[in-house]
Amino acid sequence: MKKKILLTTAIDYTNDVIHVGHAYEKLLADSLARYERIKRGAKNVYFTTGTDEHGTTNEKAAQERGLAPSEHVSEISRKDQEQIDSLNISYDRFIKTTDQDHVDFCAKFYQRALENGDLYKAVYKGYYCEGCEAHKTLTELDERGQCPNHPTRQIQELNEENYFFKWSKYADFLKEMISSDTLYVRPEGKRSEMLAFIDHGLKDITVTRPKYKVSWGITAPNDPEQVIYVWFDALINYLTEGLSRGFWDEETEIVHFVGKDIARWHALLWPAMLKSSGYRLPDKVYIHGFINLEGQKISKSLGNIIRPTDLVNKYGADAVRYYLLKYGPITEDSDISIKQLEEVYNGELANGLGNTVSRLARLAEKSQINFKFKQKLSLQEIIFAPIKDFRVDSVLQNIWKELAALDKHINENEPWKITDPKKLEKILTLEIEKLRSTAYQLQPFMPDTAERILNQFGGGRVVATQGLFPRLG
Ligand code: MSP
Repeated sequence: MKKKILLTTAIDYTNDVIHVGHAYEKLLADSLARYERIKRGAKNVYFTTGTDEHGTTNEKAAQERGLAPSEHVSEISRKDQEQIDSLNISYDRFIKTTDQDHVDFCAKFYQRALENGDLYKAVYKGYYCEGCEAHKTLTELDERGQCPNHPTRQIQELNEENYFFKWSKYADFLKEMISSDTLYVRPEGKRSEMLAFIDHGLKDITVTRPKYKVSWGITAPNDPEQVIYVWFDALINYLTEGLSRGFWDEETEIVHFVGKDIARWHALLWPAMLKSSGYRLPDKVYIHGFINLEGQKISKSLGNIIRPTDLVNKYGADAVRYYLLKYGPITEDSDISIKQLEEVYNGELANGLGNTVSRLARLAEKSQINFKFKQKLSLQEIIFAPIKDFRVDSVLQNIWKELAALDKHINENEPWKITDPKKLEKILTLEIEKLRSTAYQLQPFMPDTAERILNQFGGGRVVATQGLFPRLG
């Protein structure tokens, strides 16, 4: 195991404030960052997220509001941050691509690729989807000639001079990296998709746009009439921060979390860019699915946007974290609904966890025993299941199995009937130690709840307090 780890999420476009789908990714990365901090020590973990503020999508959104791009993107970025803060996302840096250190570093990176002979000027003639901020071939469009991911946006036809990056040069290299798992791309289906994409033939890709078309971006250092293409700019955010914090070296495991729509950029373009500029590659790219809401894509045009704060204000951060982490799109797309969230809340949190905690608290309070728990379990004593392939959903399932076993133990031993004080102390201590171990394991996923349980059962007398998850009416 490498000593350090860098965990990153995609950085969100600032055309609009993020919704619960974007937040899922931050939550997934957050729970793993919290887990890694316990495992490796906080100083060995660095976790970044942020906003992707340049390019057409952001520029047009600002125009529609009659605002200067900088004004618009700062406002949205601030609101995005409020959204993810509401879910207790423990990022170490919220990076904005308009931050000066990123702007400077991006230009330097571009210059290195140029000096290595990987950039050249040519004409791009073809389609462009502003929603994806990506060039498209005809085969990637639907029967109406629109982008399937952005059916309400008019596809653009471009005929412009750009700088191109020699992506094709890296095809064999990328294939070798991914098929040998040196670059570990998962889930398996996505890995095959990436390999198939290489086999299909990698074409060189434009990495600048002319200023007269897109003015909101970082100026190309070799040509004042061109701005750096928004994807080239955005991907570099990982390195801007990773390098400056000492988390882009051989002692660091580098893991990117991204959604399925942007897998290609991370598993194929980014590693080629890094190779070209002489930096080490990431170790892992983990690709999650999409959250749909009651069977529909979450989108502004459908008017079904749900933001994290809409849920957190009603159900609390930990309940939302639990629901999304356990039922979210870890490998495949998943459908969420308020109805299911409320069922899970009542069934697994108010009953389930909440019930076991209050049962034990009442029994312990009544017993008036002065419990002697270890104040803090040492790290070795916490039975942390290793999280295989980032399956936080399985970890939560296992924790709930342990909770069910604990509940069964309480039912079978009927501590409320035990009159022998020594025996009662033994049984309750055992059961509370089990609960404490469960709470330790819960820390990465439901940090506040875990802390409340550990405080309530921290040693000495136990006081029964109000339930952790009051039942919903
Ligand atoms: N700005 C680019 C990413 C640049 S990373 C160097 C971008 N932004 S985005 O705002 O469109 O999406 C950000 C992340 O949110 C992506 O990983 C995307 O897959 C994810 N999601 C967007 N909608 C989602 C759902 N409905 N469900 C789950 N994740 C979703 O792409």
